[in-house]
Amino acid sequence: MTAATGQRWTLRGAHTEYTVTVPAQGRWLELVAWGPHGVSDGPSPVAYDGPVPFLTAGDAAPIEYATDADRPFTGADLVIETVDGKRRVGFVHTDARIDADKRELAVDFADPVTGLRATVHYLVPDGTDVVQRWVELTNDGTAPLQVVRAGSGGFCVPTPHGALLSHQWGQWSQEFQLSHVELGHGTFGIGSSQGVPGHLHVPWLAVRDTADPAGPAWGMALAWTGSWEISAERDTGGLTRVRAGRQLVDGPLELAVGERLSLPVVTGAYSPDGLDGLAQVWHTHQRLLAGDRLTPRPVLYNSWEATYFAVEAESQLALARIAAELGVETFVVDDGWFVGRNDDTAGLGDWTPDPAKFPAGFDTFIAEVRALGLNFGLWVEPECVNPKSTLYAEHPDWVYVVDGRPLTPVRNQYLLDLGRPEVAEFVHSTVDGLLRRYDIDYLKWDFNRPRTEPGRPGGVGPLDLDGAHVANLHRIYERLRRDHPDVLIEACAGGGGRTDLAMAARADVFWPSDNTGPLDRLAIQYGFLHANAPHLLSSWVTDAPGLFDPRPRTLAFRFVLAMAGVLGIGADIRAWTPAERAEAADWIARYKEIRDVVTRGEVHLIGGPDQARCAVQYTAPDERRVVVLAWHTGRLDGAGLLPSRPVRLPLRGLDPAARYSDGDRHYSGSHLAAVGLPVRWSATHDADLIVLTRD
Ligand code: GLA
Repeated sequence: MTAATGQRWTLRGAHTEYTVTVPAQGRWLELVAWGPHGVSDGPSPVAYDGPVPFLTAGDAAPIEYATDADRPFTGADLVIETVDGKRRVGFVHTDARIDADKRELAVDFADPVTGLRATVHYLVPDGTDVVQRWVELTNDGTAPLQVVRAGSGGFCVPTPHGALLSHQWGQWSQEFQLSHVELGHGTFGIGSSQGVPGHLHVPWLAVRDTADPAGPAWGMALAWTGSWEISAERDTGGLTRVRAGRQLVDGPLELAVGERLSLPVVTGAYSPDGLDGLAQVWHTHQRLLAGDRLTPRPVLYNSWEATYFAVEAESQLALARIAAELGVETFVVDDGWFVGRNDDTAGLGDWTPDPAKFPAGFDTFIAEVRALGLNFGLWVEPECVNPKSTLYAEHPDWVYVVDGRPLTPVRNQYLLDLGRPEVAEFVHSTVDGLLRRYDIDYLKWDFNRPRTEPGRPGGVGPLDLDGAHVANLHRIYERLRRDHPDVLIEACAGGGGRTDLAMAARADVFWPSDNTGPLDRLAIQYGFLHANAPHLLSSWVTDAPGLFDPRPRTLAFRFVLAMAGVLGIGADIRAWTPAERAEAADWIARYKEIRDVVTRGEVHLIGGPDQARCAVQYTAPDERRVVVLAWHTGRLDGAGLLPSRPVRLPLRGLDPAARYSDGDRHYSGSHLAAVGLPVRWSATHDADLIVLTRD
């Protein structure tokens, strides 16, 4: 059954709209326009004119979801192969449904030759300017099919003068490095084949026209916690098409007769105000994903950098006592608490508290922490196993392996095949059991190695190991949340290796990097906040020097930096002087006063870590308070001896007619926008927290 063509549907966001149509030939869905309200009332900014010599019409068309029949040369989203090796699935449009609020659209297609059906879904969550897209494939034919490429969708962006792409690259200890690339022609690609989003690239991209970097910005981010790929290709007509989806590292996906497959959600975002505006669109979306869990997070202490693996009750309690005095609310014991875990060579898998380290019992230890008025948190890494562990001795077949090939240890550990039901059951019951057995409020869930071996013992396959691991991981997180609604979960993967929109919907906070050095951390957080809301940014004050930029900074700098998200302390506070402890207590008290604004406020990223000015502005939803955190990124010498002028931080989004006060001075909104908030740096003053209240 075919449906009428030429219809168009407009999805409405808070300030944006997204319009698609099925053109007359009825083979695919095309973008008409994506931008501010009204953008669809006029000629399409992405349509093309004229012939397409030596290519096909589909290669130039702004197709939303293209098969290799539609776009044989310029990149398809979906490639299907039949059992006898035939490709080029081509669809006809069969049906479409849009809801009354114009926020949900589903457009159906079918392939008359193979019987494959595809439904292209759109959802604009209420109050946002994002569009979530996903595709459901159903094999209604009579023979199995193979999905060779499983893209989630293509986004078409008008870039008539050149595409300015922004992305985030990194490595362990240097995640979320924001970088920009001008793409004249050709393809730009990022991805991960690690079975995890990884440290190397973030599944996030922003596209602007090179002629207007402060203007319209389009973003794409993938909700997929496994291997992924995103590419951007600019054609000769000035259209940039971004493709995003899973990277099928385990080979094609099998689609049996009657089977249905949902591909990951890819989300598009639009802002008229450059990368800063785009960050706000992502923040709004993630705050909605958090739902009623969007609460100011507790101030935590984590003992990792203070004691590393030398965890035992006495030293932990010594730290906890000081932490409580400083105003910390949750005390987290990191790696090293369980049997056999004295370094990173053994113990993973055996999740029983080490009686030698907690001689009076783990319950008693937790009770003692709680008696200090602290909540209690624990580190786990339940998907991994050390060869030196009881778990591995009992279940060597539970790890990923290619028969006959050696295993690749990373950090002396192997990876459990979470796609196997018995492994998923073990991981869930281990974590669930800990939460039931002990009085735990906070979990740090780590993952310290990528998947190297694409196989299971016995060589059964082909199998979607990546998909099965991710699906069970998500299920376990969801189940734990449902059964233990008061436990906060911090997602960590050797730092920020597992950060994507699917995890943002399931975890409460991310540990973005093991690098807590002040200027290094500033660059990491600056990139992170472009893609992620502050409630997801876990940050500790430590004594660590920077690895990439080791210039010293004050304790105040470290505090103001950690206050940009969820404040924690990770230093060995036993060694802090009384003056340092008093300063810490003061900062923690101040953080508690502003954290609701940090959690819910509108964020503006001012300047950057490599610029003379670098600050983050948070404007409270009721606009009565504006919190500005600012850092001095340059040299610390010289200031104060010669005439100087303050650095000015231009604030954004304020009512120009309103008056604001920092308790001392008064400013108009228009002065703060045009001239800026003054901050004056000196050798001893390299960071500031300024709270402006509206008169
Ligand atoms: C990873 C984490 C760290 C810490 C260690 C413990 O590296 O990123 O924060 O938890 O593991 O082994």
